[in-house]
Amino acid sequence: MLVTNKEIQVEAQKGKYAVGAFNTSNVEITQAIIEAHEELNAPVIIATSTSAIKYCGIDVLSSVVRTMAQKAKIPVSLHLDHGTDYDLIIGCIRNGWTSIMIDGSHAPLEENIALTKEIVKICHATGISVEAELGRLGGIEDNISVDERDARLTDPAEAVRFVNETQCDTLAIAIGTSHGAYKFKGEAKLAFDRLEEIRNRVDVPLVLHGASSVIPEIIEKANKYGADLGAAKGVPIEDIKKAISLGITKVNIDTDLRLAFTAGIREILSEKPELFDPRKIIGAGRALIKEVVKNKIEVLGSAGKA
Ligand code: G3H
Ligand code: 13P
Ligand code: ZN
Repeated sequence: MLVTNKEIQVEAQKGKYAVGAFNTSNVEITQAIIEAHEELNAPVIIATSTSAIKYCGIDVLSSVVRTMAQKAKIPVSLHLDHGTDYDLIIGCIRNGWTSIMIDGSHAPLEENIALTKEIVKICHATGISVEAELGRLGGIEDNISVDERDARLTDPAEAVRFVNETQCDTLAIAIGTSHGAYKFKGEAKLAFDRLEEIRNRVDVPLVLHGASSVIPEIIEKANKYGADLGAAKGVPIEDIKKAISLGITKVNIDTDLRLAFTAGIREILSEKPELFDPRKIIGAGRALIKEVVKNKIEVLGSAGKA
């Protein structure tokens, strides 16, 4: 059944677990995500980026996700990830998205507040929940100054003001994660002190972007079959669990699915050079994504929560 992020995350906040927001851009990735969640009876957020929507077509992606969601027995939200374009946001509203992220994180605070307020007004009038972002994603390297670190991470006092003024339903915060497969040069370092302070001062459910773990076994498999993924490094699983224990209720994962897709397809193409049926090739990527997603559900604690 289709629901909003707010509904899913308010439940997660009560139950002290997190729900995965997994990015999709096609049929097979969506199937892998939804099947894994159905089998483990977990709620799920299907995230679609601007470029994923452009790749697939807004009406096609909407039909794919909504058709699978409506058939599923678990709660499914169809979420716009990092929305920045007004026309695209309206397009998503018109095409049945149930949740919108307005990402004004690169704008100065006042602009971010004004932009977020406007989107909240439109979305709430149509029953759609809104995620906003405050702070800028990026790793906390050892050679970064305290001032630079502070400028990038979410400021707890600003978060209080931001939520009060915008009335956003959920808030994405910056505590040292970043997007992609190369998140940390040395050891992973997250600002758990910030998370704790924000959680103590703000009521709305919190979101962690850039939360892929860049699973070593998947990297090994991809590299074994010809990939070159060098110094890929993600957020350790223990850090994800700690972030959830401190109040994160939505964990964003895209990179880990891309890596699984790549590893699965490389493996089958290499092991079965005679193969040329796209269903068998893409199917191998889908199968490995499903395995990875099932693992994530256990880590996040969302199994059995549907
Ligand atoms: O937040 C970023 C996601 O990984 C989406 O990436 O714009 O390449 O689809 P994308
Ligand atoms: P990853 O690149 O760590 O998977 O993060 C995805 C994300 O934050 C999507 O919004
Ligand atoms: Zn993100």
